Amino acid sequence: MLIRTGRDGFQHPVTSEITPRAVYEDRRRLMKWMATGAAGAALAGWAQREALAQQVQRPGKLAALQAVRSGVAGATTMEKVTDYKDATSYNNFYEFGTDKDDPAKNAHTLKPSPWTVEIEGLVKKPGRYALEDLLKWSAQEERVYRLRCVEGWSMVIPWVGYSFSNVARRVEPLGNAKFVEFITQADPKTMPFVGSRVLDWPYVEGLRMDEAMNPLTLLTFGMYGEVLPNQNGAPVRIVVPWKYGFKSGKSLVKIRFSEQMPKTAWNKAAANEYGFYSNVNPNVDHPRWSQATERRIGEDGLFAKKRKTLVFNGYEAQVGQLYAGMDLKKNY
Ligand code: MTE
Repeated sequence: MLIRTGRDGFQHPVTSEITPRAVYEDRRRLMKWMATGAAGAALAGWAQREALAQQVQRPGKLAALQAVRSGVAGATTMEKVTDYKDATSYNNFYEFGTDKDDPAKNAHTLKPSPWTVEIEGLVKKPGRYALEDLLKWSAQEERVYRLRCVEGWSMVIPWVGYSFSNVARRVEPLGNAKFVEFITQADPKTMPFVGSRVLDWPYVEGLRMDEAMNPLTLLTFGMYGEVLPNQNGAPVRIVVPWKYGFKSGKSLVKIRFSEQMPKTAWNKAAANEYGFYSNVNPNVDHPRWSQATERRIGEDGLFAKKRKTLVFNGYEAQVGQLYAGMDLKKNY
């Protein structure tokens, strides 16, 4: 490298001061990127994620469940997370009673360990799998989903689990498998309301195969960084964020792949009110009330405004194509 003092006193830099071309080009790229606003957006994204991390503090009540942040599109809403206390004291879990505070009061009798889940029907690898094995079938991810209940309230919950599609990949569904049935625990010894006539037990839910395989469908083992509390469906449940909450069956014991559309608990109880699809839809009223708005749990002060319910609960970009060409008024 030539080093020479010029007439105007200008000195060429020594080698160590010369910016390597790659770094220089990187800087230019960075400046361009900042000028386009991308940096602002990235910073805002970072700040939001930090704010979220602050909100999702472990309550320290149950065993921790480590998770990575999910990379699945649409998996993390940045809305305010519902307080753990509300999410665990305002529940639907009819096996423990029909009042919202019954599950928190009564579900201590549920025994989430030892636990197995039987996978049967149209699969190459049926079997009874221990919870400990299921937990390891894929990395645990944190996903912050809105959950909209058919009764008109909603919550925002940081779940821990992985896409249900990982289970399907393990057990290898056969070509004629068109539906997945989720069958939940019905043990009258530990669940005081199993046997009551409110539903035909066990509580069963189902999805079409492509719905089950959508990456948003979450096999869920925890929430708020810890294992699931009993009242939220310990030790394993399903969470389907674009459907009314009742599709998210709790305390799963059996998963069946079938050719026929499963008969689901709420559909059997009142077919005109609860269809198989149950997509969150502000344009299709429940026969006894409107679905146009919702009450966010935790925002229920005297002057709290109701929120507008979103089509597919706000997950239209991710799931809308599953229903292309279907009449969603008929297929409610
Ligand atoms: N799963 C079982 N086994 N039994 C139930 O009664 N209730 C459903 C669903 N899963 C239910 C169930 C309903 S109506 C809703 S809204 C959600 O669980 C509520 O989930 P959360 O209490 O964790 O908010």
